Amino acid sequence: MSKILVTGGTGYIGSHACVELIESGNEVVIVDNLYNSNIAVLDRIEKLTGVRPTFYEMDILDADGLRRVFHEHKIDAVIHFAGYKAVGESVEKPLEYYHNNITGSLTLYMVMKEVGCKTLVFSSSATVYGSPKSCPIEEDFPVSTTNPYGSTKLMNEMILKDICISDPEWSVLCLRYFNPIGAHKSGLLGEVPNGIPNNLVPYIARVAIGQLEYLRVFGDDYDTVDGTGVRDYIHVVDLAKGHVSAVNHALGVKGFDTINLGTGNGYSVLEVLHAYEKACGKTLPYKVVERRSGDIATCFASTTKAKEVLGWEANYTIDEMCEDSWRFTQMNPKGIGTDL
Ligand code: NAD
Ligand code: UD1
Repeated sequence: MSKILVTGGTGYIGSHACVELIESGNEVVIVDNLYNSNIAVLDRIEKLTGVRPTFYEMDILDADGLRRVFHEHKIDAVIHFAGYKAVGESVEKPLEYYHNNITGSLTLYMVMKEVGCKTLVFSSSATVYGSPKSCPIEEDFPVSTTNPYGSTKLMNEMILKDICISDPEWSVLCLRYFNPIGAHKSGLLGEVPNGIPNNLVPYIARVAIGQLEYLRVFGDDYDTVDGTGVRDYIHVVDLAKGHVSAVNHALGVKGFDTINLGTGNGYSVLEVLHAYEKACGKTLPYKVVERRSGDIATCFASTTKAKEVLGWEANYTIDEMCEDSWRFTQMNPKGIGTDL
């Protein structure tokens, strides 16, 4: 059993990871400033696992606070989810994004170095591949970014690689997520976007529940199966299980590595819409509009390295991802609150 510090542990992916970590016998300590999550997530983790994780309402920019956490707990490894994640907003507010995602992360890494906790799993993103030359995307493909959010992910990877070069005691795994969607089967945990969603499945969910009128499909003239963009959607519970494998692996090795977490399958916007229609039993209206700037036609992962290194692969189908998203949306039409 290991004791894992999870930053951003009340957020969308972090909360699912906490459930899987606890269910596989680990102890979890969460640090989150609740900027983009609700304290009620703790009740839900407890309801699902029977265990209430230790929780610190704290900003990762607070070095003294983090020191206190490490002194109060003998942490074996850190999984670092905390950060801002909206691509469009990062273009409007680059300083806020660099401050939170870079200065915040540096603060965490400095304190980890100070206290001698040198095992870390970092939330990176497939966005670091920019416009990939081909698919499936392998981990050694060239990296580049087109927006501040993506730059914060790539910069974190570079910083972490340099830390590992400087000190061979560090073990760092950067996990490059493809498109996480879906929700816990119980309907108790899921994604609660702030305002009007930017991402496809949260937007479709709002159309299905009647809070938005129709889906805007961003372009149907891409070179894909039906002209709409193709992505590698991965169930958030599969992703969460990937973190359990990753942290176990990181605890047994040294050095720096990057690993894709995806399914290896691509689905078009219309294919996802139709899967969601099947899940909710309704026809969902859509209109084709202009392409969204910065979008690429196709993006899906090579999953070979994750299988070889972590012994992990995704299992859930696109239908299950949509069914679970729909269940969560129906059970939590106003998001996660203290209404259990
Ligand atoms: P989320 O917003 O649901 O969770 C992030 C959590 O971090 C929130 O609970 C928020 O309150 C907390 N947080 C933010 N800044 C903080 C700070 N300074 N101190 C303490 N807590 C802070 O996001 P998510 O979808 O769960 O994403 C988790 C991580 O995975 C992020 O780093 C994100 O960039 C990355 N990622 C997400 C996706 C995706 O599609 N969701 C894709 C690739 C990578
Ligand atoms: C986006 C981000 C990416 C981030 C990822 C996960 C951009 C350009 N990229 O990826 O950096 O890592 O989210 O958070 O923002 N679509 C529609 N209508 C909609 C919404 C989306 O047609 O209302 C289409 C898009 O054009 C795309 C697909 O659906 O083809 C998926 O879009 P989205 O869910 O936003 O994810 P990505 O663009 O892959």
